[in-house]
Amino acid sequence: MAGDFKLDTAVPWGRNRAEYTAFFDLAGVPPHRRILDCAGGPSSFTVEASRLGHLVVAADPLYGLSKDDIKARIEESREAIAAGLRSAGHRFVWDAYGTPENLEATRFSAMKHFLEDYEEGLAEGRYLEAALPDLPFEDEAFDLALSSHFLFLYSAQFDLDFHLASVLELCRVAPEVRIFPLLDMEGERSRHLPPVIDHLQGRGLATEIRKVDYEFQKGGNEMLLIRPV
Ligand SMILES: C[S@@+](CC[C@H](N)C(=O)[O-])C[C@H]1O[C@@H](n2cnc3c(N)ncnc32)[C@H](O)[C@@H]1O
Repeated sequence: MAGDFKLDTAVPWGRNRAEYTAFFDLAGVPPHRRILDCAGGPSSFTVEASRLGHLVVAADPLYGLSKDDIKARIEESREAIAAGLRSAGHRFVWDAYGTPENLEATRFSAMKHFLEDYEEGLAEGRYLEAALPDLPFEDEAFDLALSSHFLFLYSAQFDLDFHLASVLELCRVAPEVRIFPLLDMEGERSRHLPPVIDHLQGRGLATEIRKVDYEFQKGGNEMLLIRPV
């Protein structure tokens, strides 16, 4: 349908550290915290943050693929994403990027940075093949778990049970979890958000919907923060 922006699967499309800092309000997070980027995909957050001395591990099923295969996947999704951005341009706030071409250039620069680091990062254990809702980490292996542009965004593809199990798994491996955005692919608040929050609160966890200094999907300027009470 014209004006829609729908992608059937979670595509490899990567953002950079400055964007993650805004999504997750990371400026106030002290250094030396162990951070998990779950559904890290081809984001350059891990390489950029690691170079600054932060302890970051990214987990994603994508990391079972070779560098060439990931590169090919990125190229395959490029046209569908570019077409979606053009036809549904009115659903986005363009202040930060200006044009779809500039946005694409920002994303490709981040993904190039990721690809250049990928093989070294795999060898160093900074990229780990893993898929929600079952992560191969001990309880509280991290101080903070981040999830960008996967949970809630793909609400049509992943049901409430998957969301509940995945969020609880992130809470198991880190005492603090931050998820962005809270909108689905249609630009609506995810239908899974209220039941996930109810469930977490029922388990005695504190949840906060925090406004952040980033908005690309219109109304997509909120993240969910979860911590023990
Ligand atoms: C749109 S990308 C987001 C990448 C990155 N977090 C960012 O914001 O730039 C979505 C990612 O979700 C990953 N993904 C798909 N299924 C997953 C699962 N079950 N567990 C974790 N990640 C998954 C995909 O492989 C893809 O890399």
